[in-house]
Amino acid sequence: MAHVTVLLHEAIDNLDLKSGEILLDGTLGAGGHSALVAERFGDDVEIIGLDRDPEAIQRSEERLRTLTTSAYFRNESFKNLDQVIDSLGIKKVDAILLDLGISSDQLDAEGRGFSFQRDEPLSMTMSGGDKDFDAATILNTFDEEALELIIRGFGEEKFSRRIAKEIVERREIKSFATTFELVEAVRAATPTVYHRGKLHPATRTFQALRIAVNAELTALEEGLEKGFKSLSVGGRFAVITFHSLEDRIVKQFFKNKVVEEKAVAISKKPITPTEEEIKENPRSRSAKLRVIEKQQEE
Ligand SMILES: C[S@@+](CC[C@H](N)C(=O)[O-])C[C@H]1O[C@@H](n2cnc3c(N)ncnc32)[C@H](O)[C@@H]1O
Repeated sequence: MAHVTVLLHEAIDNLDLKSGEILLDGTLGAGGHSALVAERFGDDVEIIGLDRDPEAIQRSEERLRTLTTSAYFRNESFKNLDQVIDSLGIKKVDAILLDLGISSDQLDAEGRGFSFQRDEPLSMTMSGGDKDFDAATILNTFDEEALELIIRGFGEEKFSRRIAKEIVERREIKSFATTFELVEAVRAATPTVYHRGKLHPATRTFQALRIAVNAELTALEEGLEKGFKSLSVGGRFAVITFHSLEDRIVKQFFKNKVVEEKAVAISKKPITPTEEEIKENPRSRSAKLRVIEKQQEE
């Protein structure tokens, strides 16, 4: 299923872009948010689009090139957004959007190991490359305590202890290589009542490994810091999160800027999808959009 952009109008409207301004889209994905900007402004808003995933860059570049000639695309993490801006000779941008996590295109892409629905090698790298540090490496080499910390900390999984123990026991017999081997381990470690819940029992463990493999939370912290520095006064910073760990980091970062009077909050509460959007795109159900406007340089 092609990626459906979440909180599309809410995010773009709240960026409050004007002709002549520059948008940094740190998570191009399928290019949905940037496409709306390009449809509205054509070449009058410059777009700098980043994504860690080379396939996402390729896909969104093809889509956006038909709508604007005023766009730059870089296969780069948003944690290095300052270097990208610098390399383009740009001092400040007027709006920043981060729409976190993975896209449906990545979840559905064969052979990447993000989904527990298909049996595939345990990769989970967003950049598509790094075989030296993938999910299998973590499962086969980290000690039980570290595994438990990852599954509890990044997955908020209440059965983290049991799952970590099961992983260590199983890998002594055979190393983990595929997603279904991990699903089996999670099933074996958790009570059957857990298997009947709304959430697939391996959801949280898969989320935890993906976050660990891609160091997602440290990238977010760096992206927020560097993004705020790179934003012009009066510029807006919008972030869409999909789980509480990400949301806590964004909420705290934005709150600190407001308390320090460096920014104002654009909405007191996070903006969430309408019931209609959730019905059409269930993946949007956990989305939260937070937006601030920069008032002062640091
Ligand atoms: C939810 S999708 C974005 C969808 C996009 N807004 C759209 O409308 O099509 C998230 C994207 O962010 C990318 N991503 C995640 N972490 C990243 C990071 N640290 N730097 C750059 N891209 C990242 C993923 O590869 C994925 O393509």
